[in-house]
Amino acid sequence: MKVLNFGSLNIDYVYTVDHIVRGGETISSEKTETFPGGKGLNQSIALARAGVPVYHAGAVGEDGEMLLELCRANGVDTRFIRRTEGRNGHTVIQVDRNGQNCILLFGGSNQKQTKEHIDEVLSHFEAGDMLVLQNEVNHLDYLIDRAWERGMVIVLNPSPFDDKLKACDMTKVAYFLVNEVEAEQMTGESDPGKQPERLLEAYPGGKFVLTMGSRGSMYKDSLQEFHQDIYKVNAVDTTAAGDTFTGFFLAAILEGRPIPEALDEAARASAIAVSRPGASSSIPTVEEVKNF
Ligand code: RIB
Repeated sequence: MKVLNFGSLNIDYVYTVDHIVRGGETISSEKTETFPGGKGLNQSIALARAGVPVYHAGAVGEDGEMLLELCRANGVDTRFIRRTEGRNGHTVIQVDRNGQNCILLFGGSNQKQTKEHIDEVLSHFEAGDMLVLQNEVNHLDYLIDRAWERGMVIVLNPSPFDDKLKACDMTKVAYFLVNEVEAEQMTGESDPGKQPERLLEAYPGGKFVLTMGSRGSMYKDSLQEFHQDIYKVNAVDTTAAGDTFTGFFLAAILEGRPIPEALDEAARASAIAVSRPGASSSIPTVEEVKNF
């Protein structure tokens, strides 16, 4: 079984601030740093550091060479990443004194996916192979439909949640990895305790992983349900904590390990990630997770 992640690669411009700037307010930043990021790239790095051979597909812009190099340095297969004209996708991220963030996204190269490239990439994969998706690239609906026709196992992290997802046939998704905000946007239910049930009602064939910040995470499908607490650490930067969770959870599932073990491993990995600055830079290796 092969694993393909078709997703974004961003350059994250990160500003350390006392508090997240409010509308009409101007504040000074104490520090600025540039990190590789993007939900797609972060999840591919997390899968690779968790020991999974992964192919990444997508597009980088003229300033995106360092993202390709980072993928290669981590053993991510980059043969399906195209180079495009113009700027790479990027973000402006504020991180406050509690490690909380807010993210402004510019799509750039990530919004230049073509149906021809999607068809060409998917032609290298077959029934039973896994496709990992987030919502930072265009043609997500087309990706889901074509992958489903091939019998691929589709994993969706519907983040960031927006109207484009309404065009997607989410009944074709096998695994959903969502946080409580996305779960509310998908179901209208604001109580995280009730969200897994509402998600299952909406998509009865799905398997759901719900991350709930300091309240831990939940897994639910039509047969079973589990809860996992967080591992408490000093939070420096929560960016990519969810992506780290996704990569390590999927890695454990791909190894055929029980769901509670997968949740535990993912919780350890994301605890390490929040204790470090940056997005993909904060993702631990499998050895670090085992020793945590
Ligand atoms: O999930 C974190 C990621 O979201 C950041 O790396 C940023 O690029 C945004 O895509």
